[in-house]
Amino acid sequence: MTAATPIVLLHAFPLDHRMWDDVAAGLARTHEVLAPDLPVAPGEPLPEPALEHAADAVAAAIRAAGPGPAVVAGLSMGGYVALALLERHPELVAALALVDTKSTADTPEAAAKRREVADAVQEAGSVDPVRGMPDVLLGETTRSARPDVVERVTAWIGEQDPARVAWGQRAMAARPDRTDVLRAFDGPITVVVGDEDAVTGTDAAQHMVAAVEQALLVVVPRVGHLSAVEDADAVRSALADLAQRVHDPVA
Ligand code: MLT
Repeated sequence: MTAATPIVLLHAFPLDHRMWDDVAAGLARTHEVLAPDLPVAPGEPLPEPALEHAADAVAAAIRAAGPGPAVVAGLSMGGYVALALLERHPELVAALALVDTKSTADTPEAAAKRREVADAVQEAGSVDPVRGMPDVLLGETTRSARPDVVERVTAWIGEQDPARVAWGQRAMAARPDRTDVLRAFDGPITVVVGDEDAVTGTDAAQHMVAAVEQALLVVVPRVGHLSAVEDADAVRSALADLAQRVHDPVA
């Protein structure tokens, strides 16, 4: 029984904690689950656009939940925050799941593009510039066969606060390469990637797996970048197995 190890679920951009609902429901039977909104709870003032601030807020939430470190799972932007947390508060991370994410920084072109999107969102005062993102976030199979999932993700994006969306783009643009942080971690790691992920993809997943000897790779078939939404059971099961490895390294 691993009930003493909380599981922290860090969401992707431009979404909120609800993207983890289906995964969290399964894990909550055996674990305390924390799924904070990034970078801070709604209504709290936004910090400067840097993922380190989000990581510090997550650290405070883990500490408030009780003694001992947590299993930390981050999807895409959530993964970037997980690596910032590992760098700044390594004592709080018992195990790490990096889901549809990468450990490297943006290219200068990608960072510039993000800042353009942030400016556009701020000027428009709406999420219109990112409203079409389900087309890239969701896999081809989901987009063609599961209109309910497309609708759900589209609705979530439409409900985001433009100021938080702009924050996310600026903060992600500023993040450094944290492959060395990952390499230095000696706890259990699982890397999860949808085989139709067109945003971070299997090459980024392989790069992280190659950095750490103890990493397990889970490739989820027929899902895109939002694997935790598109196939919650597969991701829940990967996270439950990871939590098990905290107590039983050979599990
Ligand atoms: C996300 O899913 O969090 C974003 O697509 C990440 C990114 O743009 O790198």
